[in-house]
Amino acid sequence: MLIKSIESLNDGLNILWDDNSLSCFPWLWLRDHSESEVDLHPDSKQRQIDVFSESPNNAVNRVSLDNNSRNVLVQWDDESESCLSFDLLKSMAQPNPPHTKALRSANLWHSSNEIEIFPEMSYKAVMSDGGIKTWLIHLQRTGFVLVTETPATPEVTKELMERMAYIRNSIFGGFSVWDNKLESPDDTAFTSLAIEPHTDGTYVHDAPGLQTLHCIKRDSIGGENQLIDGLAIAEKMRNEYPDAFNILCNVNIPGRYIKSGIYLEAQRPLFRVNNKGKVVQVSFNNHDRAPFRLENNQMSKFYKAYRIFHNLANDSSRQFEFILEPGKVLTFDNWRLLHARSSLTGYRQLCGGYHNREDFESRLRSI
Ligand SMILES: [Fe+2]
Repeated sequence: MLIKSIESLNDGLNILWDDNSLSCFPWLWLRDHSESEVDLHPDSKQRQIDVFSESPNNAVNRVSLDNNSRNVLVQWDDESESCLSFDLLKSMAQPNPPHTKALRSANLWHSSNEIEIFPEMSYKAVMSDGGIKTWLIHLQRTGFVLVTETPATPEVTKELMERMAYIRNSIFGGFSVWDNKLESPDDTAFTSLAIEPHTDGTYVHDAPGLQTLHCIKRDSIGGENQLIDGLAIAEKMRNEYPDAFNILCNVNIPGRYIKSGIYLEAQRPLFRVNNKGKVVQVSFNNHDRAPFRLENNQMSKFYKAYRIFHNLANDSSRQFEFILEPGKVLTFDNWRLLHARSSLTGYRQLCGGYHNREDFESRLRSI
């Protein structure tokens, strides 16, 4: 779309686009969204103009298009000037509720056979120029990535994680090394027990975005890991069980983490959707679910919906199963994939940690 003509009206600036559609931008909005160097910092893109401290005089002297029709210039009665780019006006031609810059869409998988490009690359490839881009694209597309031939040390694993972004701190510390022989484990993750499909951090307001795990010592039998695409389950439920899907989009489910001196609790729906109805986060941890009670008929509907999700997540045909072993570093999207583990006997030492979701998205936008 190109600008065909502009016209000043009392309410705002009317723009006629070359497809003959019209957009009327209010004067205050134009002033608030000015992109001139004084109004919008050229480097940080932070707003400098403040239209709220004093009511600006929005009487207009003159409106014009610059020579290349790339910007609309508004000269106000108070002699200040606003400049709005064609690109911004075009992107806002229709009322546009806030949304973050779109990321490429994910390839959902209902079984490991549906993973078209297996997300695996060597440590050498990740650490080479441009390697992190491939690593990020694997994560974005499939929800996980495996890095093979990695030196099996905590130092190298930490360095690999820091290639993406700084490591997030959590109740378990930042980058951690642990084994399944802790004397008093404070989470099932640190034992040899089986763990059902779940996402981490249902008890924190901002669940970890990515989780990285590297088994650096292994003398054990069992302990297979399973990954399940929670977004694929969401879309299946949206299509096949719409009532259950709606319940899981709307019922806040509390999660909690309790140990001496610590009581973490947060709540959100199993499927968190944005204002366009897109599922942006899957949160599910039956182990960490805190008590709550709805009206009996609502509770019954909730249980039915939760059971559908639970059974789909536990359906082995939906699971990608593998064994973590020294040299193979797993990173997965904790807002999309569920992870599980079979019980094991023997000894394992692992290391890893979390990244924030926004840092993952930031890298994806920047590559
Ligand atoms: Fe976990």
